[in-house]
Amino acid sequence: MTWQATALTLFPDMFPGTLGHSLAGRALERGIWSVEARDMRDYGLGRHRVVDDTPFGGGAGMVMRPDVVASAIADIDLAGRPLVYPTPRGRRLMQADIRRYAAGPGVVVLCGRYEGVDERVLEASGAEQVSIGDYVLSGGEVAATVLLDACVRLLPGVMGSGESAVEESFSDGLLEYPLYTKPAQWDGRDVPEVLLSGHHAAIAKWRRAASETVTQARRPDLWAAYRAGTGQDISRTAGPCGDADRLN
Ligand code: ADE
Repeated sequence: MTWQATALTLFPDMFPGTLGHSLAGRALERGIWSVEARDMRDYGLGRHRVVDDTPFGGGAGMVMRPDVVASAIADIDLAGRPLVYPTPRGRRLMQADIRRYAAGPGVVVLCGRYEGVDERVLEASGAEQVSIGDYVLSGGEVAATVLLDACVRLLPGVMGSGESAVEESFSDGLLEYPLYTKPAQWDGRDVPEVLLSGHHAAIAKWRRAASETVTQARRPDLWAAYRAGTGQDISRTAGPCGDADRLN
């Protein structure tokens, strides 16, 4: 069964965007997932298809109207899919959320523009408000693309069995160890000797130590959670280039 993504957006041409390429693009072609971009302008008011207005209480920018957004949502068959609203005001999007979305029938992503969406329609629709990080993007489409990319790579059949197995075996809340490939010597820099040794146990031990070192140095928050035994799986998976073999 196809995993179904719907994006509610004022810029439908932004989809599939980068998701039409590489791993996600091939999965899209193979029908493992689908994405439909619904233009919220179609639900706009009057001859000019107005979707926004000025904020009550004053302030800069425009706010997306609740009636317009509600009409767009009402026209979608959610079919058991969560409605997700990417916003810097949301709780942090985690790999655990991604796993939950990927395990279901799909997601509907409401992409805000301008200053955001009227709070009442977010409340009324029960939208899950998630942030992809502590910085402000110009709209929800890029955040939606990030969310969908992270989901799609977990769908059955998208990654090779070797890569999927890696996802399973490193759900321990540490950052990934550093990676090296040929040549063994480059620009006066050597690959760590142990990685050339063929000693699997020694390599595993080195990688574990390297993971711990990099996590401690770069992500004290993750390190504390790991030490407390409350760590979450975040990045020690097949990684952003898990399909590198197919790109070569
Ligand atoms: N929209 C704008 N900025 C965002 C962020 N950091 N996360 C999710 N959605 C956003």
